[in-house]
Amino acid sequence: MTKIVVTGGAGFIGSALVRALLNASDAAGDVAADRRAPEIDVIDNLLSGHESNLDEVRGRVKLHRLDIRDASAIAPVIRGADVVYHLAAIPSVPRSIHDPVPSHEINIDGTFHVFRAAAEGGVRRVVYAASSSAYGDSDVLPKMETMPPSPKSPYAAQKLMGEYYAAVFHSCFGLETVSLRFFNVYGPRQDPASAYSGVLSLFMKHLLAGTAPTIYGDGEQSRDFTYVDDVAELCVKAAHAPGVAGKMYNAGNGGRYTLNIIWDLLQRMEGVRIAPLFGPPREGDVRHSMADTRAARAELGHAPRFSIEEGLGRTLAWYRAALVVT
Ligand code: UD1
Repeated sequence: MTKIVVTGGAGFIGSALVRALLNASDAAGDVAADRRAPEIDVIDNLLSGHESNLDEVRGRVKLHRLDIRDASAIAPVIRGADVVYHLAAIPSVPRSIHDPVPSHEINIDGTFHVFRAAAEGGVRRVVYAASSSAYGDSDVLPKMETMPPSPKSPYAAQKLMGEYYAAVFHSCFGLETVSLRFFNVYGPRQDPASAYSGVLSLFMKHLLAGTAPTIYGDGEQSRDFTYVDDVAELCVKAAHAPGVAGKMYNAGNGGRYTLNIIWDLLQRMEGVRIAPLFGPPREGDVRHSMADTRAARAELGHAPRFSIEEGLGRTLAWYRAALVVT
């Protein structure tokens, strides 16, 4: 039976990837055709992930409550896998500035342990969740893979280090790796519980509570907000595309929206008017972000399906239902 490992698989993006993997297996008719569905092993320390993110698929995945800082604990789970999707991380630019040690240990040391376990455990390919933050502020948009990186925060530097390790594990140890620079992923299950949460999850929470969100800076900074299912689909494509080992690609939608525009759009969708509060700009913040998607489209078959309106609509519907339940 094919074994697939998802680190961070109980997180917001990881759990969407787990569902995408199971849907792909169902669509291929694995069970009906008497092929065994893949074994999916999730490694997650549940620091920012939640077991409940896997509720609908709980009987079909093995959840290992492990921390990627513990090399000897994760190695047996990773050994023999066909693909490892490495998404476990401590996200957030400001968190990496306020509390840099845990994010350094997980994002760099933990990532090294995952690559090493994969190389020694005979894994065919690792797909690594890199970050658009590696570009920093560039004069030119959209941001292309060939541009020099310019990290502005510990988080950006850590994620970039992971890319370098991915490339080196390929060139020195023969492990197939593909790095995907995620561009501000949003969607159902993104946890709005912390001040470090992704901005759209916080916008959703305030919109539905009828309270004012805080916008850091003038709100004219822009992001290439990318719907989570598009990113999950691209991860799966990156695990199988030929001739891409050792390379890095943008995982974005190819558009960009300012925070002011997004907040306006959300108010219109909900039929409310709530003036946002404005706070000082955040340290380490990138001004504009937008992916050039050409390389990912040509070489990985990337085909993002969700417009911002559609993605926000689905996300809002999910938060509405989740808030009714809780
Ligand atoms: C960065 C990366 C992204 C990565 C993420 C992980 C860039 C361009 N993007 O996202 O690829 O996945 O880190 O954490 O570097 N904001 C508010 N009010 C809030 C919260 C945030 O105005 O309550 C603002 C921030 O200052 C920022 C924007 O919203 O300008 C987006 O912030 P956030 O969602 O935290 O993501 P990035 O830091 O852009």
